[in-house]
Amino acid sequence: MTNPASPAPIIRSLDALREMTRSWKAKGETIGVVPTMGALHDGHLSLARAARSATDRVIVTIFINPKQFNNPDDLKNYPRTEHEDARKLAPIGVDAIYVPDGAQMYPDGFSTKVSLDALTDVLCGAHRPGHFDGVATVVAKLLLQTSADQAFFGEKDYQQLLIVRRMALDLDICTTIVGCPTVREIDGLALSSRNLLLSDRARTTAPALSEVMEAITEGLAAGETMHNLVPLVLERLERAGFGEVDYLELRAASDLSLLDTPTEPARLFGAAWLAGVRLIDNVPV
Ligand code: PAJ
Repeated sequence: MTNPASPAPIIRSLDALREMTRSWKAKGETIGVVPTMGALHDGHLSLARAARSATDRVIVTIFINPKQFNNPDDLKNYPRTEHEDARKLAPIGVDAIYVPDGAQMYPDGFSTKVSLDALTDVLCGAHRPGHFDGVATVVAKLLLQTSADQAFFGEKDYQQLLIVRRMALDLDICTTIVGCPTVREIDGLALSSRNLLLSDRARTTAPALSEVMEAITEGLAAGETMHNLVPLVLERLERAGFGEVDYLELRAASDLSLLDTPTEPARLFGAAWLAGVRLIDNVPV
C-alpha cells in the first residue's frame, strides 16, 4: 500500500511494529510477512512480490539470527547490507521493514526454545546442530510479532519450509505458510546471500551443483537408482573443484523420509562446500 518506489519505513522496536499492525488490523487489512536475514537478492524480492500481491500490507523482516548459526565465523562473515536492502525493496512498495536488534529479539533472561521432534535431524539438521531450533524459535517470534495472516518462504530452503509449516500448525499460530519457487541465475545456480562470498573462480564452478542434480533427476526419470547415480556425480563434483559433499539425497516431499527411487512425490537435496562456502539446493523429482 506504500507508493511503489518510495522507501518503506524501517521499524526497529517491537512497540512501534505493534502500533502499526494494530492500526492495520483495526481497518480490517491483511498482513503478509517475509522473514529474511538481509543481503537481499531476487529470490527474497520474489517473496516480497508474492506477499505484495496476496495481502494488503507487507512487512519484510531483516534479522541475522545468532541462534541459528552453529559456526561463529559464518555469523561474523554473513553479509550485512541494510541500506542496499531498503533500496531494493522500494520499487516493490512494501509497507515496513522490521529490523530488530539482538536485544530486542532476545532480551536478557530469554529462555525459550522451539524445538521439533520431526524433520530436523536429517539433511541440514544433521550437519548444523541446533540450526533448526534457532530457525523455529525466531520464526515463531516473527510470526507472533507481526501478527501476519500469511508468511512467505522459499522452496530453496525446503526443509526449513516444512519445519516452519509444522511449527505454526503445532503451536496454533494463525499464519498461513506459503512456499514460493526457487529463483536461479541463468546458469542454474540458486540465488543465495552466501553467493556473495564466492570468489570469481568459485562462482564459475558453483553451477556444477545444480547441473549434477539435474543429471540425477534425469537418471531417476530413466529408471536409475540413487545408489547407482550418486557415486558418479560425486566424482564429477570433485573434478569441478568442490570439497566435501554434506549430502546428496532423495527424500519424500511430505516428510523427508529417505528414498532410493521416487516412489512418491520427492525432492532431491544437495549440500556441498566450495572454497569455504556451503551451497545448498533442492529440486522436485
Ligand atoms: P534467508 O536465507 O535470508 O532467506 C529468507 C527467505 O528467502 C527464505 O524463505 C529463503 O528460503 C528464501 N530464499 C532464499 N534464496 C531464495 C531463492 N533463490 N529463491 C527463492 N527464495 C529464496 O532463511 C532464512 O533467511 C532464515 O532462516 C529465516 C527464515 C529468515 C529465519 O531466520
